[in-house]
Amino acid sequence: MTDVNRAPARQWLASLENLGRHPTAKFTFKRDGINHDGFVILFEGRVFGYENRCRHIPITIDYGDNRFFTGDGKSLVCQTHGAMYDPVTGLCFQGPCKGSSLFPLKVEVEDGNVYLVQDGV
Ligand code: FES
Repeated sequence: MTDVNRAPARQWLASLENLGRHPTAKFTFKRDGINHDGFVILFEGRVFGYENRCRHIPITIDYGDNRFFTGDGKSLVCQTHGAMYDPVTGLCFQGPCKGSSLFPLKVEVEDGNVYLVQDGV
């Protein structure tokens, strides 16, 4: 049972300064007692967070090397079979999981830092 009185959990993910140098950062977060991989991106001045799990096969999108963007920096790409995702919506618009979306994560920016926010953790 979820404790509705519990404050949302907040986890530091990255600094905006570092995302300005390299636009992605990986992290691990816990949900329902299980560790999950996530990543956060800085794209066109906005920050977005997603679970690091392709919607084609449940494996990470990167090869563990923190590379998520296509060469032109306009799309996210699964390194295994090349599914391409919109960085803003997480929608797969090309590849084997076309029409599916990455699982979004709630992120907040405060004082130059990016945090993951989870309810009822
Ligand atoms: S596992 Fe991502 S496109 Fe195949």
